Amino acid sequence: MIKKGIILAGGLGTRMSPITKSVNKQLLPIYDKPLIFYPLSILMLAGIREILIIVNKGQTNQFKKVLKNGESFGVKIIYKEQKSPNGLPEAFIIGEKFIDNNGVALILGDNFFYAQSLTKTLQEATKLNKGAKVFLHPVKNPKLYGIATIKNKKIISLKEKPLSAKSNLAVTGLYFFDKNVVKLSKSLKPSKRKELEIIDLLNKYRKKNNLSAEFLGRGGAWLDAGSIDDYYDTTSFVSAIEKRQGFKIACLEEIALNKKWINKKDLGESIKFYGNCDYSRYLKEILF
Ligand code: TTP
Repeated sequence: MIKKGIILAGGLGTRMSPITKSVNKQLLPIYDKPLIFYPLSILMLAGIREILIIVNKGQTNQFKKVLKNGESFGVKIIYKEQKSPNGLPEAFIIGEKFIDNNGVALILGDNFFYAQSLTKTLQEATKLNKGAKVFLHPVKNPKLYGIATIKNKKIISLKEKPLSAKSNLAVTGLYFFDKNVVKLSKSLKPSKRKELEIIDLLNKYRKKNNLSAEFLGRGGAWLDAGSIDDYYDTTSFVSAIEKRQGFKIACLEEIALNKKWINKKDLGESIKFYGNCDYSRYLKEILF
């Protein structure tokens, strides 16, 4: 059973410069809340309550200002800093003590997921005992992503940004790993772009026949809010759904209340904390 999760929320945000020169991408708004709320809500929906957020050097306090230690939405958050963006698997080396020889989930701080029965799929994924699990979703331009080729529902190859792709199934930024992930991450060598590569880590599992795939399904949305266009597409998507359906995506207190991790009194504290805003009005609606 996987009970711990890491959000990787550092990075340079080069593609969104100059916006990201002074602000971390994950603290920018996606419609009505900071981007980091969305990956955090995914871990919470999976039932994960022990969370490590990895941020850039010197940025811990900015994240703490809004998320604090997670208590107000029923989880326990600790923070660690990454000196420079040396690649996704570095999360497991930085997080070794936090992982403490257990299985762990990893979600990228700029990834947005919205799909039918997602909660059920996520909860199933936390049952992973051995190996690793990735979530795949079709994309229009496979050259920009890590791409998986599938045969009989099994991943037969994994390539980072292939020049000619045989498949359009991208590996999304949500992964579940068994306890071997720290040891295997430490055995990786930096790639040509001088980073530890998640595809290399996943290939280690695949070669041992220990890599499984989950699909978000045709009706699901996966957006990586890393480029200006994808960032605004994500905002439009959230705005359209929230306005039409009247509920919020990634309202952390609502998820926690539904899971009985917090009570109505705690919700009242959050309303005070956020102050006079649309998000608080929504929390008030839940309260009464
Ligand atoms: P990327 O989108 O690959 O990197 P980035 O956010 O720095 O953006 P750009 O390519 O425009 O420079 O990273 C995906 C997510 O993972 C993003 O949320 C940042 C995070 N990340 C880290 O925290 N540490 C790392 O070492 C890397 C590679 C990424």
